[in-house]
Amino acid sequence: MARLGFGVDIGGSGIKGAVVDLGSGTLASERYKVLTPQPSTPAAVAGAVAEVVRHFDWHDRVGCTFPAVVQAGVARTAANVDQSWVGTSVDKVLSEATGLAVSVVNDADAAGIAEATWGAAMGASGLVVVVTLGTGIGTALIYRGMLVPNSELGHIELEGVDYEKKASAAAREREGLSWEKWAKRLQRYFSALEFYLRPEMFVVGGGVSRRADKFLPLISLDAKIVPAHFQNEAGIIGAAYMASEAAERPGPGWCAPAKGPSPAAVTPEAAPATA
Ligand code: BGC
Repeated sequence: MARLGFGVDIGGSGIKGAVVDLGSGTLASERYKVLTPQPSTPAAVAGAVAEVVRHFDWHDRVGCTFPAVVQAGVARTAANVDQSWVGTSVDKVLSEATGLAVSVVNDADAAGIAEATWGAAMGASGLVVVVTLGTGIGTALIYRGMLVPNSELGHIELEGVDYEKKASAAAREREGLSWEKWAKRLQRYFSALEFYLRPEMFVVGGGVSRRADKFLPLISLDAKIVPAHFQNEAGIIGAAYMASEAAERPGPGWCAPAKGPSPAAVTPEAAPATA
């Protein structure tokens, strides 16, 4: 019997949710998306998350990504969301809005855990750096299935600027860069990460990883660099999985080992197969 969870991915432009099959790491429903409210204040975003959860008539624990540093449920930064999030208990605000238990994790970390558990980084023996290219640049460091949470390597400074501003997928669109021009910036960025971290592999996620054939072949590194298996769904899947892990082992911290879920199957009856 499938063990189901629910994941929500809060991004700079959209808030998406879906039911997740925690046995296979696949979506067990269609995704439902609403636009991220602007300004993206806690009250407005919480209302949008509640709308996504209501759409599925979901009544169990929710795993939610957040596009900033999250420590013990509290947002510590806010690069691409409203500044008023800093210092806010994201889990508490979302839990009040949905009436459900909510676990919150950095979006790139959630994607990293999904890729390490079922995706492109599964079984890697060395350091894997997952890089999500979207509104911002998110990073997750995974070593032998363990996540080192809240790395913020999208913000490394190169050429005197926070390089997220130059190399994110949003920067490519904003500046109308050709794939070749953008790939040059990505080359600069990934070379710097390789110099500092020497990973075995880079996994590149975010919506633009759908078009990985346009830019990944233009990047040359010693490490392997591959597209994310889950593309833009990794956040939803990872957040749902991490929420189920947190339920089994409550407490602060997000060092959830990437492993197949335990066989103890629970199927919330309210979960629809499709939405
Ligand atoms: C934030 C990270 C986040 C990334 C992707 C960055 O601007 O600082 O915490 O993971 O964007 O959303």
